[in-house]
Amino acid sequence: MRIARRKAGLREALEGARRDGLRIGLVPTMGALHEGHLSLVREARRSCGVVVVSLFVNPTQFGPGEDLEAYPRDEARDAELLEAESVDLLYAPSRDEIYPPGFATRVEVSGLTEVLCGDHSRRGHEHFRGVTTVVAKLLNSVGPDVAYFGQKDAQQAAVLRRMVADLDFPVAIETLATVREHDGLAMSSRNRYLDDGERGRAAALHRALEAASASAARGATVEAAIDAARSELAAAGIEPEYLEARDAEDMTPVENFNGRPILVALAARIGPARLIDNVVIEPRRD
Ligand code: PAJ
Repeated sequence: MRIARRKAGLREALEGARRDGLRIGLVPTMGALHEGHLSLVREARRSCGVVVVSLFVNPTQFGPGEDLEAYPRDEARDAELLEAESVDLLYAPSRDEIYPPGFATRVEVSGLTEVLCGDHSRRGHEHFRGVTTVVAKLLNSVGPDVAYFGQKDAQQAAVLRRMVADLDFPVAIETLATVREHDGLAMSSRNRYLDDGERGRAAALHRALEAASASAARGATVEAAIDAARSELAAAGIEPEYLEARDAEDMTPVENFNGRPILVALAARIGPARLIDNVVIEPRRD
């Protein structure tokens, strides 16, 4: 596996692949890799001739007081895991390579970045502006045919699909299923902030989403499905930051299961970690 730290080296490493017409797959990450990330890498490996993984802990998507400093970093371990998955190229740029002095451009998707994790009162839309700006740069630097993202961050994936469609990026976006621990907790680099007690309680997030799905499958209203999830959280002493049903593509609020896929998404603080999870409720076929 080659490691590139600069755009010039990245471009040079991909010249041959581009000349040979190989399909290039990109998996953007912030490192601290786990099975969730590796599932994206494996899918890229299965369907692309060249697999590029980027590793950059993007400062502009962390709010003031968030965990930028504490965010786990272990490039050597990440590189070993990627090598074992036969990744061709790791792009691990410095902060200055991505944001050199004088950097002044922002890429911003409006509307669907202003709800859920993007709620204005928490300045969350600035988080998504950081994500879209860095991913736009990564897509331009790598020039992949396909880029892979996880459904774990459903709103992020929807925002990026919107950006790519609106700005005519010549790339296909693949969104892959959330990989979970045995008790259903969605894998996340932030799970390591939890102590044993918190880790036990965190399983309630997935139970809550399962309860919402099960109610919907029994024909419950959106309100009743959300209530079912809320009770499951309350039983574990968890007060969510948000727990909402929204259109899975444009994130507009929904009052009833209306024949389109509905995203039920939540965020909750458990001890030092802010965790998110979601489920998509597909329209009933009856
Ligand atoms: P990061 O949190 O490292 O996640 C990288 C990719 O892995 C994202 O697409 C995320 O949705 C996916 N992922 C994380 N946990 C997952 C799980 N349990 N199952 C499946 N996929 C999972 O998301 C980011 O980094 C950044 O915002 C980034 C897109 C790299 C821009 O900086």
